[in-house]
Amino acid sequence: MVTETWSVNPESPDTESIARAAEQLRSGNLVAFPTETVYGLGANALDAVAVERIFIAKGRPTRNPVIVHVIDAEAAREVAADWPNEADLLAERFWPGPLTLILSRRKEIPDIVTGGGPTVGVRVPAHPVALALLRAAGIPIAAPSANRSLQLSPTLAAHVAQSLGGRIPFILDGGPTSGGLESTVVRLGDGQPLLLRPGLLSPAEIEAVIGPLLRHTAHAPSNQEDPLPAPGMMSRHYAPSAPLEIHEDGSDRVYRLLESGVSVGWLTCKHDMPVIPGLFIRQLPDDAAGYASRLYAALHELDACNVSHIVVDMPPPSEDWLAVRDRLTRAAATEDNF
Ligand code: TXA
Ligand code: MG
Repeated sequence: MVTETWSVNPESPDTESIARAAEQLRSGNLVAFPTETVYGLGANALDAVAVERIFIAKGRPTRNPVIVHVIDAEAAREVAADWPNEADLLAERFWPGPLTLILSRRKEIPDIVTGGGPTVGVRVPAHPVALALLRAAGIPIAAPSANRSLQLSPTLAAHVAQSLGGRIPFILDGGPTSGGLESTVVRLGDGQPLLLRPGLLSPAEIEAVIGPLLRHTAHAPSNQEDPLPAPGMMSRHYAPSAPLEIHEDGSDRVYRLLESGVSVGWLTCKHDMPVIPGLFIRQLPDDAAGYASRLYAALHELDACNVSHIVVDMPPPSEDWLAVRDRLTRAAATEDNF
């Protein structure tokens, strides 16, 4: 399969490219498109055959459900069977934006979207291209991140092409995504709201609106038939090709690796770094949002430098760094467990 890339203006996407992409979605094809978090790989969420193509292209286990993207809260209510008061409050405050709500599903939503489970994940993305596409297509769009399963999420159309080129027909290129890290996933419904995946929106911001959030800590269910209760439950996930190690301060490890003659990528917030052959440094901002917006892009860049190891200075254990630390921990895991 040849992958076509169409460039669109990210602020005011031209109607012709959007109309073509929308038509592809309506006819059951896949289109990768930018959101404010990462690029998504979209399919008509009401068409099980189309959604199945996502799983084939990504090599994704079918028990891992996909997020349904919709144009607004009203459209979200059409995929959910229940709409608790917290959903109203959160939608009002954070949509369009990087928040995915897990709610009871309507039966019209195909099993392949929900992993066969009783819930559906839904969000309104805050990107002009994604919103224009949703409006033009007039359907809910199922879209996981547009990368091969377990790999790094894409923040550029070029990352999508590297990972899925030849496996998907269309990519809408709207430039770099601003957020750089995935949405926060929250389960609403029975009992206290539950944080299933930390993401761009911090727990504190959510708690300011609906009160305390439970933190999800369990691991993947042992019954391999069950849908995964939370996203990214595989312990290895969001991973670059080179092995990644996290250290409180990676300096010693970096110098030891360099002495042994291998090339090293170093992700750090430190300044004034030395120039050493074989050392590829990516200096990231020392605030969590700035770091998140650059993290995947920096890891993609280090992979492109063909480094043999990536060493990361782990950011502090405070809650504003929760999502970044979650992704780094999964990127460093050596095994998956599905
Ligand atoms: O920012 C994002 O969330 C991006 C953009 C494209 O919207 N999407 C994304 O999708 O990160 P994905 O599939 O890579 O991660 C979404 C996660 C999945 O791992 C899945 O387990 C979880 O959300 N999820 C989706 N539906 C769910 C459900 N019904 N119950 C529990 N988790 C669900
Ligand atoms: Mg993903």
